[in-house]
Amino acid sequence: MPTTAVRFPFTRTRPFDLEPEISELRESASISQAELFDGKLAWLITRFDDVMAVCTNPAFSSDTTKDGYPEVFEGRTSKADKEKSLISMDPPDHDELRRMLTRWFTVKRAEAMRPRIQALVDELIDGMLAEEGRIDLVQDFALPIPTAVICWLLGVPEKDHLFFQERSGTRLAVAASSADVSSATTELMAYLDDLVGVKIEQPEDDIISDLVHQYMLPGTLDRATLVDLARQLLIAGHESTASMITLATMLLLEHPDQLADLRANPELYPSAVEEVLRYLTIAQLLVGRVATEDVTIGQQVIRAGEGVRALLNAANRDPRVFTDPDQLDVRRPNVRRHMAFGYGIHQCLGQAYARVEMQVALETLFRRLPGLALGVPLEEVSFKYESAVHGVHALPVTV
Ligand code: HEM
Repeated sequence: MPTTAVRFPFTRTRPFDLEPEISELRESASISQAELFDGKLAWLITRFDDVMAVCTNPAFSSDTTKDGYPEVFEGRTSKADKEKSLISMDPPDHDELRRMLTRWFTVKRAEAMRPRIQALVDELIDGMLAEEGRIDLVQDFALPIPTAVICWLLGVPEKDHLFFQERSGTRLAVAASSADVSSATTELMAYLDDLVGVKIEQPEDDIISDLVHQYMLPGTLDRATLVDLARQLLIAGHESTASMITLATMLLLEHPDQLADLRANPELYPSAVEEVLRYLTIAQLLVGRVATEDVTIGQQVIRAGEGVRALLNAANRDPRVFTDPDQLDVRRPNVRRHMAFGYGIHQCLGQAYARVEMQVALETLFRRLPGLALGVPLEEVSFKYESAVHGVHALPVTV
């Protein structure tokens, strides 16, 4: 690679918008190079078609233990430290594991859960209306929704939901130390392992029972992998959806004209959810790949062993695909083309649930709470600027 490289990632300073450097890179060159925190170089892919090409080309590996994989943060560089997860596996192992799960993540199943999600959302709003103290939209509303959904899917009994929510909430809390996060994760893993034991004896209609009886007991999936898969679903599923619900609420409050249109025309919520997914593209640093053979993207030859970072947020603001991409438009016609859930074999497994959760949460919140407002000025909100998935730690609101 040549040696004139920008530093990546850029420091994020804007709560809802792309850093100008990213748009400039996308418009100045199809592919550019970046220097990462460890001094290694990687290719930055910013245009929509090129990001799609990277995500669908089998010459790119997602395996974080491969030499040349472009890490963006310190702390995960030792091979032993890297967790093996669905998101960082390649075929055929990836496809085999993903196939075991797909029937649980269809649009049909997510839609079947809609009434249950609606009842939960109404209950949470009742709770906020009855609350006399300070309301935090993250802990009191946005986080309990995906946590409950993943608990229902995994088959966690109702009595243990609070245990689950408290442990998973630790990861979002601004005051949590890395020791707090790691002990919460250890407790969750021990709990999930016990749950596997319960499902061996008393199977029900849930993911863990299904994996235990279809794959673990017949010997095609070991217990540790199963427990780890459940952990991945929990982590992948709750934080991102909670962040989207919170950020989308803030974004719409900041765009009163768009919000008024939605309140008057609630049938627009499904497309509005796609537009906020596109506009915010919270998975800002998720897609890293390493080339396993020489491959051409755009006009650029990427050599075997070189790393790439595909910027979903830059692609989702590409004017070649979206007219006036930096405008929020809840009536945007082609918005379903966005790549907020990635693309290709790793495209988000949980997207159907995330969509239903966001649609129900936003529609009900804005319908039932006409006076909903931020409880602090926007400048005082604590954003997760340096995280792979953008979000906020807490959001005080008044109802
Ligand atoms: C709005 C919320 C969400 C966003 C923005 C989001 C985003 C993403 C993205 C961008 C990827 C692809 C990463 C890559 O290509 O390397 C991904 C993968 C994944 N997501 Fe989500 N996600 C969300 C919600 C969920 C939920 C609710 C679940 C589960 C219940 C989930 C489970 C997963 C899993 C398991 C993968 C890995 C799939 C694979 O590698 O085959 N996500 N997500």
